[in-house]
Amino acid sequence: MAIQSLIPNLLLLLLLPALPFSLSDYVLYSGEVLTPGQNLTNGDFQLSLQPNCELIITDAVKTIWRANTSGQGSDCYLGFKHNGELVVRHGVHYILWSSGVKSKKGKYALLLDSNGKLNIFGQRRWISNNQKVLGENNMRTVITTEYVLHSGHRLNPGKHLSYQNLTFGLSHCNLVINDTDSGRILWQTNTKARGCYVQLDANGELTVKHSKQRLWSSNKRGDNGAYIGVLRYDGRFGVYGPLLWDSDKKDTVDALDFNGGFVGDDDDDVQVL
Ligand SMILES: *[C@@H]1O[C@H](CO)[C@@H](O)[C@H](O)[C@H]1NC(C)=O
Ligand SMILES: *[C@@H]1O[C@H](CO)[C@@H](O)[C@H](O)[C@H]1NC(C)=O
Ligand SMILES: *[C@@H]1O[C@H](CO)[C@@H](O)[C@H](O)[C@H]1NC(C)=O
Ligand SMILES: *[C@@H]1O[C@H](CO)[C@@H](O)[C@H](O)[C@H]1NC(C)=O
Repeated sequence: MAIQSLIPNLLLLLLLPALPFSLSDYVLYSGEVLTPGQNLTNGDFQLSLQPNCELIITDAVKTIWRANTSGQGSDCYLGFKHNGELVVRHGVHYILWSSGVKSKKGKYALLLDSNGKLNIFGQRRWISNNQKVLGENNMRTVITTEYVLHSGHRLNPGKHLSYQNLTFGLSHCNLVINDTDSGRILWQTNTKARGCYVQLDANGELTVKHSKQRLWSSNKRGDNGAYIGVLRYDGRFGVYGPLLWDSDKKDTVDALDFNGGFVGDDDDDVQVL
């Protein structure tokens, strides 16, 4: 028995992509996984996979959401697939729980929001064209800064998003991604004016505006809905949406079926605009 149960575990480990970001973040990207002991954390809220396979969201005192996957095994992990589907897998073959909403193959983002709700956004509409940076500090620190911009929101001068040593914000009217550790500017719009703001529109378009005038645009639009712009662990800023699924929705399937092994990728295309 002991040897038999070891084999799926080994297979599982081989299939797991290296996690390039420090847990706990509150955003997971498609292709990434969460294993027992890891979690996403946003304020008092935590998404975690228990050693008994139960996927739960807790607040400071209690469990506020559960996938009801306990008692069905021990070698589980949460996989975030390239079709935007979130699954709790047992070994490589069995799906114990699925968010139930599948879409086109693409890049998706899972956000544990500040209200303790899970949200899946995608596909990715746009990403800044700078090279990835992978900080040396892959420490498992809990990220407590704001690094997500929601559609309908503005980022005014003086405000910025930050993730570890990365910042995203306006410096006068120039929108920049900085690495404060090295002092390098990783990406910028080179826009100049007086009195600007950054806005993520309801169609996913990211703009730098001066009054009503657009100084710069990502020029990528999707259907209207809820989008997020995320300052990623790799120094790039990506826009994902519209919202595909959230944990308040009831239409989940309780599938127990065979499925191909989960193969993650490292999300490493660099788009040159
Ligand atoms: C969540 O992850 C962080 C970072 O790895 C860790 O410090 C913390 O103990 C974890 N929380 C739980 C409840 O496991
Ligand atoms: C888990 O079970 C509870 C009680 O039956 C139910 O209210 C809840 O919706 C279930 N969770 C999910 C994600 O379906
Ligand atoms: C980025 O770095 C530049 C130059 O060091 C600085 O002027 C600017 O304020 C920084 N911007 C942000 C958003 O951190
Ligand atoms: C870079 O980030 C690490 C961890 O988040 C922090 O300890 C360190 O002080 C930061 N360095 C600078 C120069 O901000």
